[in-house]
Amino acid sequence: MESTASSVVTEVIVVRGVVETGDQRGRTLGFPTANVALRDQDDEVGDGVWAGWVDRADGTRLPAAVSVGRRPTYYGSDGHRLLEAHLLDFAGNLYDEVLTVWLVRHLREQRAFDSSEALIRALDNDIAEARAWSVEPTSALSVETTSEFPPNIPVRLAS
Ligand SMILES: Cc1cc2nc3c(=O)[nH]c(=O)nc-3n(C[C@H](O)[C@H](O)[C@H](O)COP(=O)(O)O)c2cc1C
Repeated sequence: MESTASSVVTEVIVVRGVVETGDQRGRTLGFPTANVALRDQDDEVGDGVWAGWVDRADGTRLPAAVSVGRRPTYYGSDGHRLLEAHLLDFAGNLYDEVLTVWLVRHLREQRAFDSSEALIRALDNDIAEARAWSVEPTSALSVETTSEFPPNIPVRLAS
């Protein structure tokens, strides 16, 4: 990270991949998510929760609350790592679509919650934070989205 009097350079992480079928629990919890496999052998992206953007195949960009981790509330530390994006104000089918997910503002670490209710409260809060962030003028990305990204491998870019 680098900053000058006139500009602040921040880093964003981008992951492009096909949406895969999850456990469908997200729907039950009231927070459907688009699951994208993460080929991140070196753990370049740590586990966490971010506010960011999701670019759909048709070129539209939607704000999202994004989770990277092993869902420790349900799977302890044995779960496989995945990226899950909850698109704000979106209801529709994303299976098999290629999404480009931008992790921009880090919100918090992953946690093992005591109950689904406690996880739901945290998700409510994450979504409120992502929503507030997405309308800040500084949330817009300055990075070109047309570049080719390798499937499912996180790429770090200056924004
Ligand atoms: C914004 C966001 C934050 C999340 N944070 C956590 C977390 O801190 N701990 C956790 O165990 N799971 C977390 N999750 C993952 C949920 O456990 C997961 O979405 C839910 O179990 C549904 O999984 P499924 O889509 O595979 O059914 C988060 C998901 C989202 C979208």
